[in-house]
Amino acid sequence: MTQHKTNTHWWQEAVVYQVYPRSFQDSNGDGIGDLAGIIQRLDYLKHLGISAIWLSPVYRSPNDDNGYDISDYEQIMSEFGTMADMDQLIQEAQKREIKIIMDLVVNHTSDEHPWFIESRSSKANPYRDYYVWRKGLNGETPNDLESTFLGSAWQLDEGTGEYYLHLFSKKQPDLNWENPSVRNAIYNMMNFWIDKGIGGFRMDVIDLVGKIPDQKITGNGPKLHDYLQEMNAETFGGKDLLTVGETWGATPEIAKLYSDPKRNELSMVFQFEHVGLDEEPGKSKWDLRPLQISELKKVFSKWQTELGDQGWNSLFWNNHDLPRIVSRWGNDRTYRVQSAKMLAILLHMLKGTPYIYQGEEIGMTNRVIHDITEIEDIESKNMYADRVEKGYSKREILTAINTKGRDNARTPMQWDNTKDAGFTTGTPWLAVNENYHEINVAKDLADKNSIFYTYQKLIELRKKHPLIVWGSFELVEDTAEEIFAYYRHYQNESWLIVCNFSDQEQVFSLDETPTETIIANTQKTYTRLSERTLDPYESFVVNLASSVN
Ligand code: GLC
Ligand code: CA
Repeated sequence: MTQHKTNTHWWQEAVVYQVYPRSFQDSNGDGIGDLAGIIQRLDYLKHLGISAIWLSPVYRSPNDDNGYDISDYEQIMSEFGTMADMDQLIQEAQKREIKIIMDLVVNHTSDEHPWFIESRSSKANPYRDYYVWRKGLNGETPNDLESTFLGSAWQLDEGTGEYYLHLFSKKQPDLNWENPSVRNAIYNMMNFWIDKGIGGFRMDVIDLVGKIPDQKITGNGPKLHDYLQEMNAETFGGKDLLTVGETWGATPEIAKLYSDPKRNELSMVFQFEHVGLDEEPGKSKWDLRPLQISELKKVFSKWQTELGDQGWNSLFWNNHDLPRIVSRWGNDRTYRVQSAKMLAILLHMLKGTPYIYQGEEIGMTNRVIHDITEIEDIESKNMYADRVEKGYSKREILTAINTKGRDNARTPMQWDNTKDAGFTTGTPWLAVNENYHEINVAKDLADKNSIFYTYQKLIELRKKHPLIVWGSFELVEDTAEEIFAYYRHYQNESWLIVCNFSDQEQVFSLDETPTETIIANTQKTYTRLSERTLDPYESFVVNLASSVN
């Protein structure tokens, strides 16, 4: 194949792996994952085949929100190691052709950041305007803006008698992006990291930085895109780094604003439309309803087709904030292996950059807790307190946490069958999921039919076939609701991807005669596709050779 695309980027062909450092690998027995631990596991990641690691925050932090509350952007959290370890991680990764994507948390800092300590010290302090301070209204908060972690987003600071804004916890005061000194300080810090040779940034809740709190505008504020264009020009512009924004409210139209190459903002955004499909509209993430496969198909097709050349998709099921996908939309009991592979095939055959969250590649599951004392996550703890007060039963609340709580994703990585899954020789900061005897990396590596090898093969296929990276997407419309099938077309080739998204057999029929099976989660052969009965969660990709287009 000789077609050459102009203006292509390494990150369009990449698969990214997210590491949550606290839970990945402990190297010194203190029960907390660390940078040296990640270095020990780089060969494993190389074997999987990924091109970049998105590292959740490793900066100095008092850990009110596990590192998403930063007290020094240019120092490493002491539990994780030193800056020398960080430099070594970047170098060791580079040797294996793996880039390090840093988590950029600049909507807020920790209240222990020197800027905030100065800022709160007096109204006349030069750092006062680094944060968002307002006077109270008749002895009350300035307005009724709420924090994502519940309660008012305004906190009274006794010292100066004013309120500061925190869209997350009280220990995460929001930076004032309207202040050019704040923006400059952030750009300098970003350049400090770029000079170290990192591969890019994942930008935490970046859609909030243009907020106008007095008008209760938080997401997608009017200056947001000006700020991002300025950031691009002052930092990573022209350097071909991967930049991905976390944007909860993005529609395809909004996503184009961020990722249209002509606008010089970001490479891509994480859009969350599919993530909300099993939640009651207009309510919270804790209020659940069953997923409709038809809606999932609609949302994915929309994003696949509407971004066009004016943007780029990110593809993900999981991250450190979301429950494990095999427990959520697969089946983590009878069909764990089969459904995990189906979910992998479905996602990795789409157009965009796929992200794998640690442990997803071996089908790690949610874990079950019986008491709130087993929870570390601030979001779950705050929700528990709030709902107990509102009269919900404890059983009901724990069910919600077991289904959607963020600690589901944060239990330690399951490496092998030894004590605490080989994560630590000490006491893990968060208990290991008890199923580690059955679900672990060593076991998957020893079984050529494991979930791990499906992921490995999907990554390999993406490197080999431009069709996966560049081909167009077309949904197959006339299938059973539970079957998610689509084509990818590129030059004169078409592939067909078929996934049974259910624990029941389904009949699939299409008048196509494949020439070759690319990947499947069965040992079947796929020659004629009319009137086939698919097993629960069966999934396959076939080459139809000549293109319909
Ligand atoms: C993002 C992070 C989440 C964090 C929040 C505040 O949503 O992914 O973990 O709690 O921002 O920084
Ligand atoms: Ca450690």
